[in-house]
Amino acid sequence: MRAEDAGPVLSLEDIHFSYGGQPVLEAVSLRLERGMFLGLIGPNGSGKTTLLKIALGLLRPQQGTVRWFGRPLVRPGQFGARIAYVPQLSQAYVRPFPITVRELVLAGRVPRRGLLRPLNRADRDAVDRALAAVGMEDRAEARLSDLSGGQQQRAFIARALAADAEVLLLDEPMAGIDAAAQERFYDLLARLQRETGRTVMMVSHDLAAITGRVTHLACLNRRLICQGPVTDVAGDPQALSRTFGDLRLIAHSHGEAS
Ligand SMILES: Nc1ncnc2c1ncn2[C@@H]1O[C@H](COP(=O)(O)OP(=O)(O)O)[C@@H](O)[C@H]1O
Ligand SMILES: [Mg+2]
Repeated sequence: MRAEDAGPVLSLEDIHFSYGGQPVLEAVSLRLERGMFLGLIGPNGSGKTTLLKIALGLLRPQQGTVRWFGRPLVRPGQFGARIAYVPQLSQAYVRPFPITVRELVLAGRVPRRGLLRPLNRADRDAVDRALAAVGMEDRAEARLSDLSGGQQQRAFIARALAADAEVLLLDEPMAGIDAAAQERFYDLLARLQRETGRTVMMVSHDLAAITGRVTHLACLNRRLICQGPVTDVAGDPQALSRTFGDLRLIAHSHGEAS
């Protein structure tokens, strides 16, 4: 382990952000520790995607600091193959890609091998493993634009897996994916986290789906409402109602009578 790696993998300190007038994030501080599986939850429009983009350097906060592995982030891609990202998908995002699933997943290897070094066996194996992990081996040669939204989502997940990064950041990766594939993917993430010490942060608006899977939760609604071990946060109805607004909805989604 490098000396710099003793501290948190990612720390966001006092982040303030607005796209124009209205503040979207206010005084958000968040720590992602090595080996955590952190669920970042909050309702739609609470700033989850914005916060991930700030963490990656794709957006610059008006105030606050982003540190990865103890070092300030100064440009996107600075930490190369150490961090992999699955963006929140929409049809608009995918449609312009005239490439195959295999080519997309192979692109996940670029930060690791560089653009100029030719593909080797390790790259091809990593791509095959990632495609198998998301159940897309048989669609490898299909054009991305010919696939359903859920299949496209799985292809983007495979791209991140092929990168073999220390840290995986996933923005609503389960959207449009059927229940069986979700189950498989959650198992895979839990295995990566438990057995190989990978650090995972997954954004979700679906508290009920994510609670049984993650080790820690952070609740966002413009401000960071709470963060901690999943048992503490999921057992704190006040924090949840301050995050999601409607306590009855939360109780219902847990299958408890209220
Ligand atoms: N590019 C943008 N320009 C202006 N406002 C935006 C932009 N992207 C997001 N927003 C607004 O910022 C707020 C937070 O959005 P977002 O980070 O996408 O939330 P979440 O991912 O939690 O749904 C929302 O009110 C959204 O409408
Ligand atoms: Mg979002």
